[in-house]
Amino acid sequence: MAAAWLKDAVFYEIYPQSFYDTNGDGIGDINGIIEKLGYIKDLGCNALWINPCFDSPFKDAGYDVRDYKKVAPRYGTNEDLVRLFHTAHDMGIRVLLDLVPGHTSEEHAWFRMSQKAERNEYSDRFIWTDFCFDAAAGFPYIGGESERSGTYVLNFFKCQPALNYGFFKVDQPWQLPANHPAAIATREAIKDIMRFWLEKGCDGFRVDMASSLVKNDDDKKTGTSRIWRDVRRMLDLEFPDAAMVSEWSNPPLALRAGYDCDFCLNVQGGGYSTLMRDYGNHKGEDHSYFKKDAGGSIGRFLDEYLDWYEDTKDKGYISMLTCNHDTIRPRYNLDEQELKLAYAVIFTMPGVPFLYYGDEIGMRYLDLPTKEGGYFRTGSRSPMQWDGSKNLGFSTGKKEDLYLPVDESEDAPTVAAAEADPASLLHTVKEILALRHSREDLQADAPFKVICSEDGKPFVFRRGSMVVAVNPAGTAEEVSADLGDVSPIYTIGTADYADGKLTVGAQSFVVLG
Ligand code: NOJ
Repeated sequence: MAAAWLKDAVFYEIYPQSFYDTNGDGIGDINGIIEKLGYIKDLGCNALWINPCFDSPFKDAGYDVRDYKKVAPRYGTNEDLVRLFHTAHDMGIRVLLDLVPGHTSEEHAWFRMSQKAERNEYSDRFIWTDFCFDAAAGFPYIGGESERSGTYVLNFFKCQPALNYGFFKVDQPWQLPANHPAAIATREAIKDIMRFWLEKGCDGFRVDMASSLVKNDDDKKTGTSRIWRDVRRMLDLEFPDAAMVSEWSNPPLALRAGYDCDFCLNVQGGGYSTLMRDYGNHKGEDHSYFKKDAGGSIGRFLDEYLDWYEDTKDKGYISMLTCNHDTIRPRYNLDEQELKLAYAVIFTMPGVPFLYYGDEIGMRYLDLPTKEGGYFRTGSRSPMQWDGSKNLGFSTGKKEDLYLPVDESEDAPTVAAAEADPASLLHTVKEILALRHSREDLQADAPFKVICSEDGKPFVFRRGSMVVAVNPAGTAEEVSADLGDVSPIYTIGTADYADGKLTVGAQSFVVLG
């Protein structure tokens, strides 16, 4: 069973590098997150996901962990992070850390030991072939960099050697089965890291590349799922209130494996990509359903989503997201009105939603050169824009020392300006989140049923006793439906329900209850 607090959770994702810098060194820090907790709470978010904040050479923005148990000095200390847990809890905010179980940095002490010619405790912690010239049977690999004769398998970039959880189907002499003691030891080492932070007060983890652990796994990811079920048993026993959110993008598999939530984020073109924009492909065609003139069909999204929802509604949650640190910000292709409609839908769907820092004010995707392995993703990771002061309030440091440049456009949105404008996107986000918190029928568990998804009509769905409808098009749309005894309680634009006919104005959204 998913942790009870998730039922009314709304997450705020923080890329710590770019959130708020309190010591003027040009990079965000843990103390900066603590200082802004009031803002996050006021926004309507009551949970955080913080991208990896651990010691790292930062060749992949911290997803290359050098020491899982130490906060990166550039962000602060372990004590700062514990203070963040306590301060957040006092304000009713939960904190998820980012767990990277599939790989470490090539500078992690385990990997350094694993590279040694002489066998030791860590020789099998990573996946090695037997001979210096071996190709690793279809896996990306590196040779020629170690004392040890053998090549090692990578999990992502060159800096990220794959941790060894064994192979579901062993077809090479150097591959260990998933039940080999060395593979079990890797699993236990990850559980040890989880216990370390949970005992210090974190509320769980977003889990990076959750499906990547056991290699040569079958389609159902049996081997990898077994690992997560084991981890789940540990949590149920020792930390029953802890939550796990997977980056798997296959809710039926992830939730069956013991996760509470899985992201609706499918790099193959389903999920988020069909609703918001093509993942990582900002030059590609714009299919967003919320674009006024795109004439998009919600069916493209529902085809996959409804299968997922029906399969998982009793097991855990699908997490809709405005964007994340790996995608193009939605402001890239949607204007402010379109964003209002998109977020209003995301925040009234079932499951546990995630808001990426800065999306609430419509921060832009910037055309930036790569930083710390970001590549195209770098443009979505620029500093938070707080107000009109130096560096838009992100840092008092020198412009040239900033982690990434702030948006220099004259009309760069800021929190201060958005707060002063009652018609801003920020206010819409606050209103819709306040409504969600006030009505159980708009939260994670309330049943979801599509009432109308026909092209040329509003997209209408039921949440418990409430009805939600959106019309992204530039002209009013209507549908005849018996919605019961409901009337509009929250509207963006215009909407009317009378005599069994629901009319939703151009670019409008409505909640009826
Ligand atoms: C997914 C993370 O979200 C991404 O930022 C990272 O580069 C890869 N996993 C590798 O850890």
